[in-house]
Amino acid sequence: MNVLITGGTGLVGTRLSGVLTEAGHRVAHVSRTLAPGSPCRTFQWDPAAGTIDPAAVPFADAVVNLAGANVGEGQWTAARKQELLASRVDGLALLRRELAKPGHRVRTVVSASAIGLYGNTGDALVTEDTLPVGHDLLADLTQAWEQAAVPLAALGLRVVVPRIGVVLSLAGGALPALAGPVKLGFGAPLGSGQQWLSWIHIDDLCRLLLAMLTDDIWQGAYNAVAPNPATNAAFTTALAEVLHRPLLLPNIPAFILQLAMGEQSEMVLTGKRVSAAKVLAQGFAFEFPGLREALQALYATAPQPAKSLVYGAESARSE
Ligand SMILES: NC(=O)c1ccc[n+]([C@@H]2O[C@H](COP(=O)([O-])OP(=O)(O)OC[C@H]3O[C@@H](n4cnc5c(N)ncnc54)[C@H](OP(=O)(O)O)[C@@H]3O)[C@@H](O)[C@H]2O)c1
Repeated sequence: MNVLITGGTGLVGTRLSGVLTEAGHRVAHVSRTLAPGSPCRTFQWDPAAGTIDPAAVPFADAVVNLAGANVGEGQWTAARKQELLASRVDGLALLRRELAKPGHRVRTVVSASAIGLYGNTGDALVTEDTLPVGHDLLADLTQAWEQAAVPLAALGLRVVVPRIGVVLSLAGGALPALAGPVKLGFGAPLGSGQQWLSWIHIDDLCRLLLAMLTDDIWQGAYNAVAPNPATNAAFTTALAEVLHRPLLLPNIPAFILQLAMGEQSEMVLTGKRVSAAKVLAQGFAFEFPGLREALQALYATAPQPAKSLVYGAESARSE
């Protein structure tokens, strides 16, 4: 099938494009910029201005909507908060406008959401039916994002909304940021360390998105998280073990993180303990259900600087 991905240039979209292509699908991106040398066909859009290449939607049998300004980048100023929201709801409004027009074949839209919807869950394991328990910035943002996807279903499309957990990848996102201090020997749990972190290996996420695209049994909201969330302390410990580094420092107090990060400290100090029961009940099999295995698999594929230097020296000598 032909799959159109908005935000396809990002962390998830790049990997998903590879997974879809390997599975025999044709992929095109919808991007704000036409980058030279892009590995796949790209249609330009400007969600803020409400413009999109008119050939974009007619290309597709299905759409994956991943576009949105990155919540982990930049300070949460009033202008940035507005951008976080507008970059999501404007894109969906534009897609809805194009999908309402006749003359296209799209039947399925997979529109990203996030477990930020649930706010701070404490130790309670939340399911897709749990009402948002908090009204922090991410919960409010995600509610508005999901609401903006509702009109797509009214067009008669099959709409699937994966509520994505913390994506584990070495290419970006939270993991490199969490691993940096651990690698340097400064790793420590954050705040109480008891806040839950519901994660998913990027390859499992992309296989889940592929299943959602290709199998009609998927409809509505699903938590896109692995079945074994970890507390921040357990996550930090597992990361240190996989990286073969000691954890010597005490927890970093919450007030220091609040001083350093401001409102954004909610991203690391609030926890989300999120259930994967619904995707498991649909028959999805995780390749990486356990944290340690997921981290080991990721770091096993990481380049080894010391060895490559040695290999480089050897190959230089033999040439
Ligand atoms: N990574 C995670 O841990 C995680 C967790 C939960 C939810 N999610 C959500 O899943 C989606 C994909 O995640 P990701 O990690 O791949 O995100 P990402 O790397 O930040 O990529 C998102 C893409 O959105 C587009 N974008 C950025 N700013 C924009 C703006 N102001 N207006 C319109 N488009 C903009 C960009 O594409 P162009 O520059 O090509 O336009 C960018 O490549 C995001 O919506 C994210 O919020 C991610």
